[in-house]
Amino acid sequence: MKIKITVLPGDGIGPEIIDQALKVVNSVCIKFGHEPVYRTGLVGAAAIDDCGDPYPEETHNLCMDSDAVLFGAIGDPRFDNDPKAKVRPEKGLLAMRKKLGLYANIRPIMTFSSLLHKSPLRQDLVEGAEFIAIRELTGGIYFGRPQGRSEDGDTAYDTCIYHKYEIERICRLAFDFAMKRRRKLTMVDKANVLATSRLWRETLQELAGEYPEVEVEYMFVDNAAMQIIQWPKRFDVIVTENMFGDILTDEASVITGSLGMLPSASIGLHTSVFEPVHGSYPQAAGKNIANPLAAVLSAALMFEYAFSLHKEAMLIRQAVEQSLLAGIVTEDIEPMNPAKTSEVGDLLADWIEKANLSGAGRK
Ligand code: IPM
Ligand code: MN
Repeated sequence: MKIKITVLPGDGIGPEIIDQALKVVNSVCIKFGHEPVYRTGLVGAAAIDDCGDPYPEETHNLCMDSDAVLFGAIGDPRFDNDPKAKVRPEKGLLAMRKKLGLYANIRPIMTFSSLLHKSPLRQDLVEGAEFIAIRELTGGIYFGRPQGRSEDGDTAYDTCIYHKYEIERICRLAFDFAMKRRRKLTMVDKANVLATSRLWRETLQELAGEYPEVEVEYMFVDNAAMQIIQWPKRFDVIVTENMFGDILTDEASVITGSLGMLPSASIGLHTSVFEPVHGSYPQAAGKNIANPLAAVLSAALMFEYAFSLHKEAMLIRQAVEQSLLAGIVTEDIEPMNPAKTSEVGDLLADWIEKANLSGAGRK
C-alpha cells in the first residue's frame, strides 16, 4: 500500500523525535511491504523564520494532499516572553487544526507495567489504568471571537463559544468510542458556572437516548482534575471541551510515569494529524536526549486510524514495550544510565526489522 505522509517536525525537540518515528515507520513499511512517500513542511517558529507565517499556505496544501500528517512539536521561548510578538508559533498549530477541520483530539492514556515505579501515584492506583480522553479541538475559548485588548490596554478578553453542531459531532464520536470499550462515558464540564457547559450537557443528554448501552456521567472539571489522580481506573472515555481537555490530558499523561510517552490523534474533516501530547521542550533541543516514544506511538496511531493497519500499529507498540523492558530509554525515565534519543529509535527500528511476524498479531 502506498502511503503519503506529510512530515512537520516543527520546533525544539520536534525534528529529533520525528526522525526516530520515521525510522520506525520505514522499518514497519519494509516489513509489511508498504510504500511510504514523505514530504516535509515548515510549521511553527521555523516557518515564522522562513516566511513570517507559522502555518504557510504551502504547508497546508501538503497536508491536504496527503493521507496523514506526522507532527513533532511547536513552541519557541524566543516568543514566550515577548507579549508584543505579532505572531506566535502556537498560532500555526491552531491554524492547522482549524483549516484541516480537526475537531477531535484523541488522547489514549495507558500505563506501562515497566514504568509503574516512575509514576507520581502509588502503583496500585495506576496499575491497569487505561482510558481515552477526547478533547474538542477547534472551538471554545481557543477560537472564540472577540478576543483582544481594550484601546487603553488595561482590559483583555477571550470568548468561549460553542455551537450545538460542534458539541454533537464530538459527543457522537465519544459515544462510538465508548461502545467499542467499557461503555462508560464521562463528560467533563463546568455546568454550574458556564453557559457553554450547559449546552454541552443538554446536547449529550439528547444523544444519550441513542446509546442506551452506554453509562453516562457528568463531572465538573475541578472534581475531574481530582478524580484523575485519586482513582484513574474509574474512567473509560472522557469527552470535554477544548481548554479543559488541554489541561486534563497533561495531568493524565504524567500518571503513566513520563509526559514523554503519550501520543495523540487529531481527526475531523480533512487529513488527520498525529502528534505527541508533550511540547517542544526547548531546553533539550538538539541534545539527543528527548524521549521519542510519544512520537513513535503517534506513528502507531497513524497506522491504526489513518490506514486501518492494525498489525503494523501493534508491532510498533510491541517494540516500544521491548525497549522499556530492556531499559533502553531516555533520561526522563532512566536518569542514571540513559540511552540517547537516536539510540532508542535505532533499537526500535532494528527490533521491528527482526520481529517474527507470526507473533506480531498476538497480545
Ligand atoms: C497541546 C498544546 C497546544 C494547545 C498549544 C501548543 C497551543 O498545549 O496540543 O496540547 O494548547 O492545544
Ligand atoms: Mn497542551
